[in-house]
Amino acid sequence: MKGFTLWFTGLSGAGKTTLANRCEEIFLERGMKVEVLDGDVVRTNLSKGLGFSKEDRDTNIRRIGWVCHILTRNDVVAIGAAISPYQAIRDENRKMIGRFVEVYCRCPIEVLKKRDPKGMYEKALRGEIKGFTGVDDPYEPPEKPEIVIESDKETVDQSVAKIIRTLELMGYIPSTGEVGDYAPAEEEKIKERLRDLGYI
Ligand code: ADX
Repeated sequence: MKGFTLWFTGLSGAGKTTLANRCEEIFLERGMKVEVLDGDVVRTNLSKGLGFSKEDRDTNIRRIGWVCHILTRNDVVAIGAAISPYQAIRDENRKMIGRFVEVYCRCPIEVLKKRDPKGMYEKALRGEIKGFTGVDDPYEPPEKPEIVIESDKETVDQSVAKIIRTLELMGYIPSTGEVGDYAPAEEEKIKERLRDLGYI
């Protein structure tokens, strides 16, 4: 099997890490080689010392992208999970990597402010954290993501099923016939998106 990069983008708390880890489990169960590069983790090693200015975020995303690139070309499934707020940098990574599947974790900011498990939105809204993505720092939604997850409307299982099915239809992973928690109407939506993007 050839490698590819599954790239999760979205605001803090939108579900990137949860979905990345669930996908990792499934790929491992299916005997694939997988690595997850999660923004929060990468910032403790590969990107240690970087902050949240545009320049530092761009550096962080380029570094994660480059590691995903070398993993992908060695036929590993690389999973990137970072806010990655800027379209241009995500597109740079897409171009470098080639087999790049962008998963937009969409969730209204109002829902994220309510969830706020780390209390960071509250701090950002009080002005205690400056330049917080979605509060007083930009987030550019993907223009042409292969997959859109709506984490306020779907269960984790439904989102995962959507991701796995898309990868199967793209021919990036073998079909097992086990699509899990999945409505037939979803299949048509996925196909429509992949047709629009010229994959099928
Ligand atoms: S990115 O912009 O460079 O892609 P990354 O995904 O690595 O960000 O890190 C985001 C995480 O850092 C958030 O989940 C949050 O816990 C933490 N964080 C700290 N400060 C900020 C900030 N100003 N904006 C967004 N996230 C922040």
